[in-house]
Amino acid sequence: MTIRRVLKMGEPLLAQVAAPVQRFDAELDTLVRDMDETMRSLNGAGIAAPQIGVSLRVVIFEVADNPRYPNVAPVPYTVLINPQLTPLGSEQAEGWEGCLSVPGLRGLVPRYTHLRYSGFDLHGVPFERTAHGFHARVVQHEVDHLDGVLYPQRIRDLRNLGFEDALGARMTPMPD
Ligand code: NI
Repeated sequence: MTIRRVLKMGEPLLAQVAAPVQRFDAELDTLVRDMDETMRSLNGAGIAAPQIGVSLRVVIFEVADNPRYPNVAPVPYTVLINPQLTPLGSEQAEGWEGCLSVPGLRGLVPRYTHLRYSGFDLHGVPFERTAHGFHARVVQHEVDHLDGVLYPQRIRDLRNLGFEDALGARMTPMPD
């Protein structure tokens, strides 16, 4: 396993539409292990393959019990390949997001509150889940990376984009 360099906003690969995974092989296994190690080294809640320079439709995420987000239910460690998202209803909510590719900043981003997602696990086995609140937010953020979208593009009012250490109390915990 290798901790890989995380691309930053402005690097062209982050703006590309990533290609579907075709083979569930050892190469994919290595990619996911590198993503895992890189995410953990930076205390991220999730990471997408393009963030380490690989333009494939692979994301991983995990939300462990976090004292900063006391109302957020934990999300199990998930490897999600070739994902499809289906919003359940039109309800959206705004919450503060950060991104390993946009270090030091946070922004207030609207996301669907309820959705269904499906895709394949690391072994190519299809699965499907419903998610709401923070879980749904994380999935939407990560899958956006596969379509070349970073969260600042989703902010409705750019006054709600700022440096983490400057936002202070405005940056309330994400609603669940
Ligand atoms: Ni991100």
